[in-house]
Amino acid sequence: MKIDLASGSPTAVSADWLLLPVGEDQPLLESGRTVDVATGGALTRLREAGDVTGKLGELTRLFDVPGLGSRRVMLVGLGSLAALTSAQVNRAFLTAVREIGTKAGRSVALALPTAADSLPLSVAEFTRLAAVAVQVGSASPQLYRGQPDRHPPERVLFVHSPDDSAAVAVAVAQGNILGEAVNLTRELVNRHPGEVYPETFADRAAHVASEAGLTCEVFDEHRLAQERMQALLAVARGSARPPRMVVLQYRGAANAAPLALVGKGVTFDSGGLSLKPTDSMKTMKADMAGAATVLGAMTAMARLRLPLNVVGLMGLVENMPGGSAYKLGEVLRARNGVTIEVLNTDAEGRLVLADVLSYAVDQGVGRIVDLATLTGSCVVALGEQVAGAFTNHQPWCDAVLAAARRAGEDVWQLPMFDSYAEQLKSDVADCKNVGPRWGGAITAAKFLEKFVGQTPWVHLDIAGPAFVESPQPHLDSGGTGVMVRTLVELAAAESPQP
Ligand code: BES
Ligand code: MN
Ligand code: ZN
Repeated sequence: MKIDLASGSPTAVSADWLLLPVGEDQPLLESGRTVDVATGGALTRLREAGDVTGKLGELTRLFDVPGLGSRRVMLVGLGSLAALTSAQVNRAFLTAVREIGTKAGRSVALALPTAADSLPLSVAEFTRLAAVAVQVGSASPQLYRGQPDRHPPERVLFVHSPDDSAAVAVAVAQGNILGEAVNLTRELVNRHPGEVYPETFADRAAHVASEAGLTCEVFDEHRLAQERMQALLAVARGSARPPRMVVLQYRGAANAAPLALVGKGVTFDSGGLSLKPTDSMKTMKADMAGAATVLGAMTAMARLRLPLNVVGLMGLVENMPGGSAYKLGEVLRARNGVTIEVLNTDAEGRLVLADVLSYAVDQGVGRIVDLATLTGSCVVALGEQVAGAFTNHQPWCDAVLAAARRAGEDVWQLPMFDSYAEQLKSDVADCKNVGPRWGGAITAAKFLEKFVGQTPWVHLDIAGPAFVESPQPHLDSGGTGVMVRTLVELAAAESPQP
């Protein structure tokens, strides 16, 4: 896919499709007015007849429109312009780009707004969102098909006003970087679990890191034992595949304590001896989405040269019921000395994170965000499209929630009352790894809290939004790359302002 910029009128560019955004119950944007004039009022008539409403995600195709350089026009509904959000722009262009991708070899010209349109989002912000959507909408989950039925456009041309040349060039470059990061996360989630296991994930991370300019260190099982990571190692014991921990470092600032991003990387979660039923296991190749999100986000932070320090930690294991598998009733000693009675081997993610979080704390990091497909209970609480947030430090959580809002991703905070922690008391050890049936997303978070000490920490449970089972007009099935953009927004906000 070739990405270019063109300054001037959208009527002049020649492409297979001209993508023209239209709002709901609003006058046409400047680009729309130009096309309306060139076509003798065609758009006005369509709107007056009610054929084009501008509703969010509405696509209207016009063919052989006289007076235009492009062969076809696709009117893209943005929804209400008065309160236009990142999420609207994202959804509108994803829908359009996915639709255009049903045919191979198409060229696309995308008409950007101008400052005179006075949208609530700046031209640069709108452009960046559109560029991300072009990348994300062009990559499908059909990684293993002989004949994919989705194709990236051959060429995408961003058409802008001459006044915006510099800002649009920067925004498109940033959007491409973000979109490629989201697609990297999606691809890793979508690859099958015979291909992606701890060693191959770590190899891929090392490769991607060197391309992006990150330093990467991979801990093997011996090094993990030296680091006393017995909870993580216990989970790995039932698998023929040895565990790994990937440590990525990004240095974009002098001496500031780094931000730590910690990801759950269970490359397949069978449940272990507490075996999952087959239907629940079908999507458990996606249980490494947290780790893939950390990797994707850090490649973007490095390529964007954000001025801060970040360490990315990925705990990679396969949870299997092999002959050496960890057992119910076993007591594990985590890296920080806390002893854990295992009462369900399917509550494995928290055991992996326990050791990785305490490793992060020992590195002297200033703040932590962890990402994990941790509990089905979080999906029960918030549904499939919203991530759960949990914290020991409200200002830090507020910063994460604000970043998510800017990124157009939905996150909702859940409480951390002490009464939940009491439900993790064990008769034989410091704690057990599962609580009672109800409130499982919160007891899981209270478990993690025992391993972060006093470091400001936010846990994001992405069990719902990390993976979609059935596609929607704006969303492919499979990995979504959710939270990559939120993390990059957060890192940008954490960067000291020059
Ligand atoms: N990986 C699962 C959580 C999950 C469930 C992710 C559904 C995505 C979709 C996790 O390891 C798990 O099995 N959690 C158990 C915890 C329980 C045993 C306390 C769960 O949610 O049932
Ligand atoms: Mn599990
Ligand atoms: Zn799991």
